[in-house]
Amino acid sequence: MPQPTDSPLKLFASLIADQQRKLLERTAKAENVTVDQLKAELAYRWEGWRARQAQCEPAGEPWTFWIILAGRGWGKTLTGAEWVRKKALLHPGCRIALVAPTVADGRDTMVEGETGLLSVLRESELRGGNRDDAWNRSMGELFLANGSRFKVFSSEKPNRLRGPQHHYAWCDEASSWEDASDGNVLETTWSNMLLGLRLGDAPQCLVTTTPKPNRLTKDILATTAPRVIVHRPTWDNLDNLAGTFYEHVIAEFKGTRAGLQELEARLLEDVEGALWTAKRLDECRVGTHPQLDRIVVGVDPNITSGVAANDAGIIVAGRSNHHRKAYVLADRTTSGGPLAWAQAAVAAYHNFEADLIVAEANQGGEMVQITLRTVDRNVPVKLVHASRGKRTRAEPIAALYGASPGDEVAGGVAKPTDVFHVGAFPELEVEMTTWVPSDESPDRMDALVWALNDLMVAAGGVRGFTKRSSDTEPVTIRGDLRLVGSQYVDKT
Ligand SMILES: Nc1ncnc2c1ncn2[C@@H]1O[C@H](COP(=O)(O)OP(=O)(O)OP(=O)(O)O)[C@@H](O)[C@H]1O
Ligand SMILES: [Mg+2]
Repeated sequence: MPQPTDSPLKLFASLIADQQRKLLERTAKAENVTVDQLKAELAYRWEGWRARQAQCEPAGEPWTFWIILAGRGWGKTLTGAEWVRKKALLHPGCRIALVAPTVADGRDTMVEGETGLLSVLRESELRGGNRDDAWNRSMGELFLANGSRFKVFSSEKPNRLRGPQHHYAWCDEASSWEDASDGNVLETTWSNMLLGLRLGDAPQCLVTTTPKPNRLTKDILATTAPRVIVHRPTWDNLDNLAGTFYEHVIAEFKGTRAGLQELEARLLEDVEGALWTAKRLDECRVGTHPQLDRIVVGVDPNITSGVAANDAGIIVAGRSNHHRKAYVLADRTTSGGPLAWAQAAVAAYHNFEADLIVAEANQGGEMVQITLRTVDRNVPVKLVHASRGKRTRAEPIAALYGASPGDEVAGGVAKPTDVFHVGAFPELEVEMTTWVPSDESPDRMDALVWALNDLMVAAGGVRGFTKRSSDTEPVTIRGDLRLVGSQYVDKT
């Protein structure tokens, strides 16, 4: 049964051979080409053939912004690449900005990626008829034979967008731009891009993104300029996604709140009852951290494997004694069975030269320790037991993040944060801002709570803690840890 989301190609494929042949002959005649020419051309045809309706440029009223909010793997990048190709060919000599979260995203995904511009342009359309003459990788510039030019910009360097003028812009993953929490204020990637979007009679901008609840996303959606908003879930594109995508992305998110954002492209507002707000997390974000005196890897293990198993949350965080602040450094959460999370946790321990792995042992008990030791028998492990409910355990950790002026939680009083996020951790932050007690286990948030509890709440601090050298038993244990049997426990 054909669905409205099916592409003409998909409908064509569902016809029997005789119907297909007749349709091809009729179309070739109407387009004044041979059937073979038509077939060769169809391999590249996007609108009216391979594209689903929602991937085609909106017809009807003129628009300035075409905003596609879609789930992961929906075909956002391909849609963007096809649209800018079409514009560049229709308007010889035009200038088009390609704006990405990072320079690498711009080059590797928007231009060179599997669904990037170079994958949709024919050689004959390129300057000099070949990629080497057309694509200046170091400058991020791509030239077409007809004089049109694309240039890559990134949210890492918003200033680069000051000055250059464009007829069109394609903004990929705008919700993940580095300055997305600033919204549409002066000197941001977005405002600089807009100020330069002033060539020709009708400049246009396509935004393709999986939305996140930050200021920029909200400001883009609130624009009063003529706009078309397309809002689609990942499922539209299921036919074209590899099985591995299903296993790694869809299975991971299905049925979770994070899935509402990542797969259904819902803009998750702050959830009543959640312990953190997206705004506060943005305020606690930094680009770098001072020297850290103690680094721990918090682990919320799972004890089963298979697609149905939860992820094992793995969060790395460190503390600066001088600043008395904690810094969240990495989210190494993994799916897979016990060996997978144990390997990921031990790898994180070594990568960050951490002092300790702190793992919840409520479900696996001693097995948690044994599994970690199977991977590395010298890794220091502290097993922690949750005696209180998740929420009670998480509340003091949420309090460490302070409060913005006017926050209800703090009775309207601003309080500085004791925890910073070094960069952004989208999946972790979705859990933090959306988890309410009736939900499934928030693995990443649990791991964060264990790590920060160790660094900031558990008694004292561990200045004198000496790590085991590789082959000897630990001998120097000071601070708040002591060795009981083979496991480190809080002295208190
Ligand atoms: N209409 C279509 N017909 C055939 N294949 C498609 C179509 N739309 C998308 N695809 C395929 O789906 C896959 C995902 O596309 P793309 O990378 O553009 O998605 P995305 O939404 O940008 O993904 P991500 O969220 O990872 O950035 C690619 O293999 C692409 O070729
Ligand atoms: Mg993409």
